[in-house]
Amino acid sequence: MAKGRKNGLYSGISEELSALMRTGWADTERHDLRPDEQAPYAAARRAALSARFPGERLVIPSGNLKTRSNDDSYPFRAYTGYVHMTGDQARDGALVLEPRADGGHDAYCYQLPRDSRDDNEFWTGAHAELWMGRRRSLAESAVVLGLPCRDVRTAAEDLASSGAPTRIVRGIDPSLEGAVATEEERDAELEEALSDLRLVKDEWEVAELRKAVDSTVRGFTDVIGELSRAIASSERWIEGTFFRRARLEGNAVGYGTICAAGEHATIMHWTDNDGPVRRGDLLLLDAGVETHTLYTADVTRTLPSSGTFTPLQRKVYDAVYEAQEAGIAAVKPGAAYRDFHEASQRHLAARLVEWGFIEGPAERAYELGLQRRFTMAGTGHMLGLDVHDCAQARNEEYVDGVLEAGMVLTVEPGLYFQPDDLTVPEEWRGIGVRIEDDLVVTADGHENLSAGLPRSADEVEEWMARLGG
Ligand code: GLY
Ligand code: MN
Ligand code: MN
Repeated sequence: MAKGRKNGLYSGISEELSALMRTGWADTERHDLRPDEQAPYAAARRAALSARFPGERLVIPSGNLKTRSNDDSYPFRAYTGYVHMTGDQARDGALVLEPRADGGHDAYCYQLPRDSRDDNEFWTGAHAELWMGRRRSLAESAVVLGLPCRDVRTAAEDLASSGAPTRIVRGIDPSLEGAVATEEERDAELEEALSDLRLVKDEWEVAELRKAVDSTVRGFTDVIGELSRAIASSERWIEGTFFRRARLEGNAVGYGTICAAGEHATIMHWTDNDGPVRRGDLLLLDAGVETHTLYTADVTRTLPSSGTFTPLQRKVYDAVYEAQEAGIAAVKPGAAYRDFHEASQRHLAARLVEWGFIEGPAERAYELGLQRRFTMAGTGHMLGLDVHDCAQARNEEYVDGVLEAGMVLTVEPGLYFQPDDLTVPEEWRGIGVRIEDDLVVTADGHENLSAGLPRSADEVEEWMARLGG
């Protein structure tokens, strides 16, 4: 009798039970699968990566489950570079680009195969499909991904036994990392390249981002309809309302929802979301639906919970709105990436000088960055599979680079007056406003993907009056 697990209620597995479990199962191999519609796009992305590293083997793991406690795990999220290069989200996998003599690469994918029924693993193992759900077979994955697939259980041995110069993305899969001899700096260049290659989205990615944003627009609309219930409960009501839409239409939210009423709106990463929503307060909601393919939106609206801005709230809101307009106008191909940030920040610096909160003249205040006391964050970032996408890209390609058609970015100026800031009049303290939209750079300018959500103060009030819950 095989021993049972510690604190398990069954004492063990008898030979008879083991034999009973292994028999009587149908063949469920699927023969009806077709290549994923993303497969040709992923192939083109791999070709671009291959061209950067002739003669070298590249290993891009998908990652493993992370333990939360005991045998409980955090939800799995495959490494972004792996998802981008394969279209796959499986855990315990890896993409390998094996160098060819002609300078190109042959790509293949390691995957965890289906459980055999020849031993007890399929119902007692850590990855048992009977507990975790069915996986694709290697043959099925090969069809779906358009890539030859191999058993990941031999990956460490395979990789250790071949002599090609290798790079691996570090910090994703310790066992694969341990199997290859690589240099940290060269590995970092691989990660950098994977980030660079996501800067310009292909048409399939833009379509996914459009879906993420459209779904997010519906989530914000849900929230407006639930405002009175939020006022009777807490910020959590808003968070839950948005999350329901994200889970129904997509995979989840693409980052922790920021649902910040009153002075919480001045906290950039307020995700506790456990405060009250008082009528008359502003409610800052920063939230994004992540599609089933893991592309995320990142949208913020700041709403007057009563349905109407006070004169002071509107004054701050209008300043942020005008700064966003200036930023959005600067988004076009050929513009320096920084232009939108600088346009927004200049506008906010001028307003802060005019209000007497920082010393002018405005251009001097801007040059010295004095506005940052109240603007806090940069005015935006690339958006895609990660909410702060392409974060490892080279500066010259990203923040010091030039906008190109197909780039997708947020424009999100804000003003935040901390509740304990003695440099502003008391009635300003605790006001926080951010407006955030998701833009795709087009051949002749940009398209605001989140234009479906009202943005100016008047439009917001009209929208809330129409839908108010
Ligand atoms: N939600 C994070 C950000 O706006 O960048
Ligand atoms: Mn955001
Ligand atoms: Mn953002």
